[in-house]
Amino acid sequence: MSRPTPEERALVDRISADSLTTRRDYLRIVATVSGGLAVGSTLVSAGVLHRHGDGAAAPLKVADRLPPGAAVTFDYPGEDDRAMAVRLTDGTLVGWSTVCTHLACGVLRREDHPEREGLYCPCHEGVFDVRTGEVTSGPPPRPLPKVLMVEDEQGAIWAIGTARSGESEEAGLCRGLRGRNPALAERAGCGGQP
Ligand code: FES
Repeated sequence: MSRPTPEERALVDRISADSLTTRRDYLRIVATVSGGLAVGSTLVSAGVLHRHGDGAAAPLKVADRLPPGAAVTFDYPGEDDRAMAVRLTDGTLVGWSTVCTHLACGVLRREDHPEREGLYCPCHEGVFDVRTGEVTSGPPPRPLPKVLMVEDEQGAIWAIGTARSGESEEAGLCRGLRGRNPALAERAGCGGQP
């Protein structure tokens, strides 16, 4: 069993500090901050979603703050897994893999376009909805894989897991945490099995 990282300890300690925080509350945090989409179909591009579906990475702080309308790019869960967090103008925080589900080109943000055109792949003009990750035009066959984001009480932005195709955010988070440290997963209310 791997030892928890300082970030994992901080995350679980913060959650556990409030005696009123239940498993349901914890999972609601994740579900609330990162939107409501379960990603895609079960027929996935193995190269993309194998990497981005691996939610076993440690939490990664990606920004000290992210004001409405701003975005930050980072690599998660692996060093070569390009991703982006966006704070929408209504305050919603979303996170996506920016590896296109068509042929793996890099997806870019279009700040001056409406949400449904907010993410763009220049290789073959694929377009994704920045709020949901869904394909709105072009050849990409699936939505962008989700990166689960959370904001801590200091306003810092963290990537804390990923969701596989067809997997709920809660299941993705628990799968990743369980894979790294079953004891912490248990404390977080994830139970024993997916
Ligand atoms: S690689 Fe993105 S649209 Fe083709």
